[in-house]
Amino acid sequence: MSTEPASSPKSPRRITTKSLREQKQRGEKITALTAYDFSMAELLDKAGIDVILVGDSAGMVVQGADTTVGVTLEEMLYHSKIVARAVTRALVVADMPFMSFQVNADEALRNAGRMIKETGVGAVKLEGGLVQCPTIQRLVEVGIPVMGHLGLTPQSIHQFGSYQVRATSTEEADMVRRDALELERAGVFAIVLEKVPAKLGEEISASVEVPVIGIGAGSGCDGQILVSHDMLGLYTRFHPRFVRRYAEVGREMQNAFEHYIRDVKSGEFPAPEESY
Ligand code: KIV
Repeated sequence: MSTEPASSPKSPRRITTKSLREQKQRGEKITALTAYDFSMAELLDKAGIDVILVGDSAGMVVQGADTTVGVTLEEMLYHSKIVARAVTRALVVADMPFMSFQVNADEALRNAGRMIKETGVGAVKLEGGLVQCPTIQRLVEVGIPVMGHLGLTPQSIHQFGSYQVRATSTEEADMVRRDALELERAGVFAIVLEKVPAKLGEEISASVEVPVIGIGAGSGCDGQILVSHDMLGLYTRFHPRFVRRYAEVGREMQNAFEHYIRDVKSGEFPAPEESY
Protein backbone atom coordinates (compact mmCIF):
# COMPACT_ATOMS: atom_id res chain seq x y z
CA MET A 1 0.00 0.00 0.00
CA SER A 2 1.35 3.43 -0.95
CA THR A 3 1.85 5.92 1.86
CA GLU A 4 1.71 8.85 -0.59
CA PRO A 5 -1.55 10.83 -0.31
CA ALA A 6 -3.76 10.39 -3.36
CA SER A 7 -4.08 13.35 -5.71
CA SER A 8 -7.10 14.13 -7.85
CA PRO A 9 -8.88 17.32 -8.92
CA LYS A 10 -11.36 16.69 -6.07
CA SER A 11 -8.70 16.05 -3.44
CA PRO A 12 -5.60 17.98 -4.51
CA ARG A 13 -2.20 16.91 -3.26
CA ARG A 14 -1.66 17.75 0.38
CA ILE A 15 0.96 20.35 1.24
CA THR A 16 3.72 18.86 3.39
CA THR A 17 6.87 20.15 5.04
CA LYS A 18 8.75 18.45 2.20
CA SER A 19 6.65 20.02 -0.56
CA LEU A 20 7.20 23.48 0.99
CA ARG A 21 10.95 22.97 0.71
CA GLU A 22 10.51 21.91 -2.92
CA GLN A 23 8.47 25.08 -3.52
CA LYS A 24 11.42 27.12 -2.24
CA GLN A 25 13.80 25.18 -4.49
CA ARG A 26 11.56 25.90 -7.50
CA GLY A 27 11.39 29.59 -6.54
CA GLU A 28 7.62 29.33 -6.07
CA LYS A 29 6.40 31.65 -3.31
CA ILE A 30 4.67 30.09 -0.31
CA THR A 31 1.35 31.56 0.82
CA ALA A 32 0.22 31.47 4.45
CA LEU A 33 -2.58 33.03 6.49
CA THR A 34 -4.03 32.45 9.96
CA ALA A 35 -7.31 30.81 10.96
CA TYR A 36 -8.91 30.09 14.30
CA ASP A 37 -12.20 28.40 13.34
CA PHE A 38 -13.78 25.92 10.93
CA SER A 39 -15.46 28.38 8.53
CA MET A 40 -12.41 30.57 7.96
CA ALA A 41 -10.15 27.53 7.57
CA GLU A 42 -12.48 25.97 5.00
CA LEU A 43 -12.49 29.17 2.92
CA LEU A 44 -8.70 29.45 3.07
CA ASP A 45 -8.24 25.83 2.04
CA LYS A 46 -10.67 26.19 -0.88
CA ALA A 47 -8.80 29.33 -1.98
CA GLY A 48 -5.63 27.25 -2.29
CA ILE A 49 -3.52 28.63 0.56
CA ASP A 50 -0.37 26.57 1.26
CA VAL A 51 -0.10 26.97 5.04
CA ILE A 52 -2.78 27.76 7.62
CA LEU A 53 -1.36 28.93 10.92
CA VAL A 54 -3.52 28.60 14.00
CA GLY A 55 -1.76 31.59 15.53
CA ASP A 56 -1.79 32.61 19.14
CA SER A 57 -2.76 35.97 17.61
CA ALA A 58 -6.15 34.44 18.51
CA GLY A 59 -5.52 36.07 21.89
CA MET A 60 -5.78 39.48 20.24
CA VAL A 61 -8.09 39.12 17.23
CA VAL A 62 -10.51 36.56 18.73
CA GLN A 63 -10.28 37.13 22.48
CA GLY A 64 -9.63 40.91 22.44
CA ALA A 65 -6.55 40.83 24.69
CA ASP A 66 -3.74 43.38 24.26
CA THR A 67 -1.06 40.71 23.74
CA THR A 68 -0.70 37.01 22.90
CA VAL A 69 0.90 36.25 26.26
CA GLY A 70 -2.22 35.01 28.07
CA VAL A 71 -3.28 32.41 25.50
CA THR A 72 -3.42 28.93 27.05
CA LEU A 73 -2.55 25.52 25.67
CA GLU A 74 -6.17 24.40 26.11
CA GLU A 75 -7.37 27.36 23.99
CA MET A 76 -4.84 26.56 21.27
CA LEU A 77 -5.88 22.89 21.32
CA TYR A 78 -9.50 23.96 20.82
CA HIS A 79 -8.77 26.37 17.93
CA SER A 80 -6.37 23.92 16.28
CA LYS A 81 -8.86 21.05 16.38
CA ILE A 82 -11.66 23.02 14.72
CA VAL A 83 -9.32 24.41 12.05
CA ALA A 84 -7.74 21.04 11.21
CA ARG A 85 -11.24 19.53 10.82
CA ALA A 86 -11.94 21.87 7.87
CA VAL A 87 -8.73 21.41 5.91
CA THR A 88 -7.95 18.85 3.21
CA ARG A 89 -5.01 20.42 1.36
CA ALA A 90 -3.08 23.06 3.30
CA LEU A 91 -0.47 22.27 5.93
CA VAL A 92 -1.98 23.29 9.29
CA VAL A 93 0.54 24.59 11.82
CA ALA A 94 -0.41 25.30 15.45
CA ASP A 95 1.30 27.93 17.57
CA MET A 96 2.64 26.70 20.90
CA PRO A 97 1.51 29.40 23.35
CA PHE A 98 3.73 31.24 25.82
CA MET A 99 5.02 28.99 28.62
CA SER A 100 3.87 25.77 26.95
CA PHE A 101 7.43 25.03 25.72
CA GLN A 102 9.84 27.26 27.68
CA VAL A 103 10.05 25.41 31.03
CA ASN A 104 12.00 22.42 29.72
CA ALA A 105 12.19 20.09 26.73
CA ASP A 106 10.16 17.33 28.45
CA GLU A 107 7.23 19.63 29.07
CA ALA A 108 7.51 21.05 25.54
CA LEU A 109 7.46 17.53 24.14
CA ARG A 110 4.38 16.56 26.17
CA ASN A 111 2.53 19.71 25.10
CA ALA A 112 3.53 19.55 21.44
CA GLY A 113 2.64 15.85 21.48
CA ARG A 114 -0.86 16.72 22.72
CA MET A 115 -1.17 19.31 19.97
CA ILE A 116 -0.33 16.79 17.26
CA LYS A 117 -2.30 13.85 18.72
CA GLU A 118 -5.45 15.65 19.85
CA THR A 119 -6.00 18.19 17.06
CA GLY A 120 -4.91 16.75 13.72
CA VAL A 121 -2.53 19.60 12.84
CA GLY A 122 0.60 18.68 10.90
CA ALA A 123 3.18 20.80 12.72
CA VAL A 124 3.79 23.23 15.57
CA LYS A 125 5.41 26.66 15.64
CA LEU A 126 7.45 28.05 18.48
CA GLU A 127 9.04 31.43 18.98
CA GLY A 128 12.71 31.95 19.76
CA GLY A 129 16.25 31.38 18.52
CA LEU A 130 19.33 29.62 19.85
CA VAL A 131 17.89 29.10 23.32
CA GLN A 132 15.04 26.99 21.91
CA CYS A 133 17.28 24.76 19.75
CA PRO A 134 17.62 21.82 22.21
CA THR A 135 13.82 21.73 22.56
CA ILE A 136 13.28 21.95 18.80
CA GLN A 137 15.77 19.12 18.27
CA ARG A 138 13.93 16.96 20.78
CA LEU A 139 10.54 17.53 19.11
CA VAL A 140 11.93 16.90 15.62
CA GLU A 141 13.66 13.70 16.78
CA VAL A 142 10.34 12.15 17.81
CA GLY A 143 8.64 13.19 14.57
CA ILE A 144 6.99 16.51 15.40
CA PRO A 145 7.66 19.02 12.60
CA VAL A 146 8.59 22.45 13.98
CA MET A 147 8.34 25.89 12.39
CA GLY A 148 10.57 28.54 13.98
CA HIS A 149 9.74 32.21 14.52
CA LEU A 150 12.39 34.98 14.66
CA GLY A 151 12.55 38.78 14.54
CA LEU A 152 9.60 40.30 16.36
CA THR A 153 8.39 37.48 18.60
CA PRO A 154 5.14 38.76 20.15
CA GLN A 155 5.33 36.42 23.18
CA SER A 156 8.37 38.48 24.29
CA ILE A 157 6.49 41.79 24.17
CA HIS A 158 7.19 42.47 27.85
CA GLN A 159 10.91 42.13 27.16
CA PHE A 160 10.85 44.22 23.93
CA GLY A 161 8.44 46.84 25.32
CA SER A 162 6.92 47.58 21.90
CA TYR A 163 5.94 46.05 18.56
CA GLN A 164 8.48 48.16 16.65
CA VAL A 165 10.58 46.80 13.80
CA ARG A 166 13.39 44.50 15.05
CA ALA A 167 17.00 43.93 14.02
CA THR A 168 17.74 47.46 12.84
CA SER A 169 21.08 47.43 14.71
CA THR A 170 24.03 45.42 13.39
CA GLU A 171 24.21 43.41 16.65
CA GLU A 172 20.58 42.35 16.56
CA ALA A 173 20.67 41.66 12.81
CA ASP A 174 23.71 39.41 13.36
CA MET A 175 21.88 37.61 16.15
CA VAL A 176 18.86 36.95 13.92
CA ARG A 177 21.16 35.71 11.13
CA ARG A 178 22.87 33.33 13.58
CA ASP A 179 19.53 32.19 15.03
CA ALA A 180 18.20 31.31 11.57
CA LEU A 181 21.22 29.07 10.92
CA GLU A 182 20.90 27.48 14.38
CA LEU A 183 17.17 26.82 13.89
CA GLU A 184 17.91 25.17 10.57
CA ARG A 185 20.59 23.01 12.21
CA ALA A 186 18.12 22.06 14.98
CA GLY A 187 15.74 20.75 12.32
CA VAL A 188 12.96 23.30 11.71
CA PHE A 189 11.17 22.86 8.38
CA ALA A 190 10.48 26.60 7.97
CA ILE A 191 11.01 29.90 9.73
CA VAL A 192 8.56 32.77 10.21
CA LEU A 193 10.50 36.04 10.14
CA GLU A 194 8.56 38.97 11.55
CA LYS A 195 9.03 42.71 11.17
CA VAL A 196 12.69 43.07 10.21
CA PRO A 197 14.27 45.17 7.43
CA ALA A 198 13.60 43.82 3.92
CA LYS A 199 17.32 43.49 3.16
CA LEU A 200 17.78 41.22 6.18
CA GLY A 201 14.72 39.17 5.18
CA GLU A 202 16.26 38.59 1.75
CA GLU A 203 19.69 37.74 3.17
CA ILE A 204 18.33 35.25 5.67
CA SER A 205 16.13 33.60 3.04
CA ALA A 206 19.22 33.11 0.87
CA SER A 207 21.32 31.81 3.76
CA VAL A 208 19.12 28.82 4.73
CA GLU A 209 17.65 25.96 2.73
CA VAL A 210 14.39 25.87 4.66
CA PRO A 211 11.66 28.29 3.53
CA VAL A 212 11.54 31.67 5.27
CA ILE A 213 8.01 33.00 5.51
CA GLY A 214 7.98 36.73 6.09
CA ILE A 215 5.53 39.02 7.83
CA GLY A 216 6.76 42.57 7.47
CA ALA A 217 10.12 41.18 6.32
CA GLY A 218 10.03 42.29 2.67
CA SER A 219 9.48 40.66 -0.69
CA GLY A 220 12.75 38.72 -0.69
CA CYS A 221 11.39 36.03 1.63
CA ASP A 222 10.34 32.62 0.30
CA GLY A 223 6.74 33.24 1.26
CA GLN A 224 4.40 35.60 3.07
CA ILE A 225 2.04 35.29 6.00
CA LEU A 226 -0.52 37.73 7.41
CA VAL A 227 -3.10 37.54 10.16
CA SER A 228 -6.36 36.94 8.27
CA HIS A 229 -8.37 39.28 10.49
CA ASP A 230 -5.91 42.09 9.63
CA MET A 231 -5.95 41.61 5.86
CA LEU A 232 -9.74 41.25 5.85
CA GLY A 233 -10.34 44.43 7.84
CA LEU A 234 -11.96 42.45 10.65
CA TYR A 235 -9.47 43.51 13.32
CA THR A 236 -8.79 47.23 13.12
CA ARG A 237 -7.20 48.17 16.45
CA PHE A 238 -3.75 48.32 14.83
CA HIS A 239 -2.83 48.78 11.20
CA PRO A 240 0.86 47.93 10.86
CA ARG A 241 2.51 49.14 7.65
CA PHE A 242 3.08 45.55 6.49
CA VAL A 243 -0.65 44.73 6.43
CA ARG A 244 -2.39 45.14 3.07
CA ARG A 245 -6.18 45.27 3.42
CA TYR A 246 -7.63 42.94 0.80
CA ALA A 247 -11.22 43.52 1.93
CA GLU A 248 -13.31 45.53 4.37
CA VAL A 249 -15.20 42.57 5.81
CA GLY A 250 -15.69 44.29 9.17
CA ARG A 251 -17.50 47.19 7.50
CA GLU A 252 -19.63 44.77 5.44
CA MET A 253 -20.59 42.85 8.57
CA GLN A 254 -21.46 46.03 10.45
CA ASN A 255 -23.71 47.09 7.53
CA ALA A 256 -25.41 43.68 7.50
CA PHE A 257 -26.02 43.75 11.27
CA GLU A 258 -27.49 47.26 11.08
CA HIS A 259 -29.68 46.25 8.12
CA TYR A 260 -30.99 43.22 10.03
CA ILE A 261 -31.79 45.34 13.11
CA ARG A 262 -33.72 47.84 10.95
CA ASP A 263 -35.65 45.05 9.23
CA VAL A 264 -36.64 43.34 12.49
CA LYS A 265 -37.70 46.64 14.10
CA SER A 266 -39.77 47.62 11.05
CA GLY A 267 -41.37 44.19 10.62
CA GLU A 268 -39.69 43.79 7.20
CA PHE A 269 -38.09 40.54 8.41
CA PRO A 270 -39.22 37.79 8.37
CA ALA A 271 -41.34 37.91 5.18
CA PRO A 272 -44.13 35.36 4.48
CA GLU A 273 -41.73 33.25 2.37
CA GLU A 274 -39.36 33.11 5.33
CA SER A 275 -42.15 31.85 7.63
CA TYR A 276 -43.97 28.49 8.02
O1 KIV B 1 0.21 34.24 16.00
C1 KIV B 1 0.32 34.55 14.80
O2 KIV B 1 -0.65 34.82 14.09
C2 KIV B 1 1.67 34.59 14.24
C3 KIV B 1 1.82 35.27 12.93
C4 KIV B 1 1.88 36.74 13.17
C5 KIV B 1 2.99 34.79 12.18
O3 KIV B 1 2.60 34.14 14.83
